[in-house]
Amino acid sequence: MAHRIRDAVQTDAPFLADMLVEAFDWTGSRSRSRVELLADPVVNRYVRGWRRPGDGGVVAVDDHGAPLGACWYRVLPKRGAGYGWVGPGVPELTLGVRPIHRARGVGRALLAAACDQAASGGHQRISLSVERTNFAWRLYVSEGFVVLESGTDSDTMAKTLR
Ligand SMILES: CC(C)(COP(=O)(O)OP(=O)(O)OC[C@H]1O[C@@H](n2cnc3c(N)ncnc32)[C@H](O)[C@@H]1OP(=O)(O)O)[C@@H](O)C(=O)NCCC(=O)NCCS
Repeated sequence: MAHRIRDAVQTDAPFLADMLVEAFDWTGSRSRSRVELLADPVVNRYVRGWRRPGDGGVVAVDDHGAPLGACWYRVLPKRGAGYGWVGPGVPELTLGVRPIHRARGVGRALLAAACDQAASGGHQRISLSVERTNFAWRLYVSEGFVVLESGTDSDTMAKTLR
């Protein structure tokens, strides 16, 4: 299915929450419900209050405007940082595509577009956290992210934007 990419706006908040659940439950285990995940401050810090100043991102939509996936970033304070925190002012990125629209290039296109947008917005770096067994790990490396720190199961990565 054809897709186009547009900027993420405030009314995308519920869809971003959907994609956040996909990112946290990337194995599809559904070990925690959507409600449970989004009630967890460690999870909802990536979308709570979207879209506040400094937030940025993109949404892929189909021919009818229906959202297929999203990639967005926000600058989190050190106290209240996300898993991908690498330093003050460096935005942390989240990426998710609806399951039925995966493996068709949407995720890579979203990632590239979000990085371009962050660069245009003046950010010099962008970061994230990903579990090493998630194939997204290879996607990030192929898009220029490098590992800065390794935890037990996951890596913190960053990409220099300019
Ligand atoms: C990760 C995710 C965003 C990728 O989106 P996508 O639209 O499926 O990805 P793309 O089609 O752009 O593919 C990107 C690369 O991953 C590879 N890939 C896609 N699906 C794959 C799969 N199931 N297994 C292994 N590799 C896969 C593709 O081959 C592609 O590499 P290539 O361009 O060299 O061929 C999507 O799978 C997703 O939403 N997953 C759940 C949420 C998640 O894990 N988010 C990241 C958390 S850090």
